[in-house]
Amino acid sequence: MLNIAIDGPAGAGKSTIAKLIAKKYDIIYLDTGAMYRGAAYFCMQNNVSPKDHREVERLLPKLDMDIIYEQGVQKVFVSKEDVTPNLREVAMSQAASDVSKIPSVRIKLVEIQREIASKRDCVLDGRDIGSYVLPNATIKFYLTADEKVRANRRFLEYKEKGVETSEELVLKDMQARDAQDTNRDFAPLKIVSDAIVIDSTDLTINEVICKMSERIDGVINS
Ligand code: DC
Repeated sequence: MLNIAIDGPAGAGKSTIAKLIAKKYDIIYLDTGAMYRGAAYFCMQNNVSPKDHREVERLLPKLDMDIIYEQGVQKVFVSKEDVTPNLREVAMSQAASDVSKIPSVRIKLVEIQREIASKRDCVLDGRDIGSYVLPNATIKFYLTADEKVRANRRFLEYKEKGVETSEELVLKDMQARDAQDTNRDFAPLKIVSDAIVIDSTDLTINEVICKMSERIDGVINS
């Protein structure tokens, strides 16, 4: 089984790169962040704050999440409803980070991630793929970039979508989320010793893909 792990902080370009890698190698892309966003959405739908550990844990047994691929595109279903269009909203990013701190939430979602990765060749992006979800992944990347550059990229994405915000606010939110994801106790964001670190600050998307492909081809052909 080919399992490519891409971890890294917010706005590093993981999802853009993972989608292109999936296309190039004709494998599926598993966006694990979307699953935490789906869990956060479920909490909010049920009037439970994603920060309220006790209430989230009480609600968790009712969380029924399915990951479905339609024409190769991942959809997140919660209680049999496709919630994918709701997951990229700005508020959902921090809510996903909040809910992802809760170990029982992670254990439930990681089980689904491991199940998918055991059955299909895939590229997964997230925070803990190489360190916790798939410590034996075929190849592990840690994709990062200067935080101001990451904030600028995210800001431009929002602008294109018509979301009103400022670059300063995006940077502040991103710093808060990265700090929370890095400092949580259970499966935090970190660089594992066998990860290939790619800093995309001065690289184009195509250059990142070339660097990753060289390494992936090296492993596939060895
Ligand atoms: O990748 P993203 O921005 O969609 O992720 C949203 C949040 O979900 C992120 O701030 C932390 C959490 N997350 C996580 O803890 N572990 C993952 N594997 C993926 C995301």
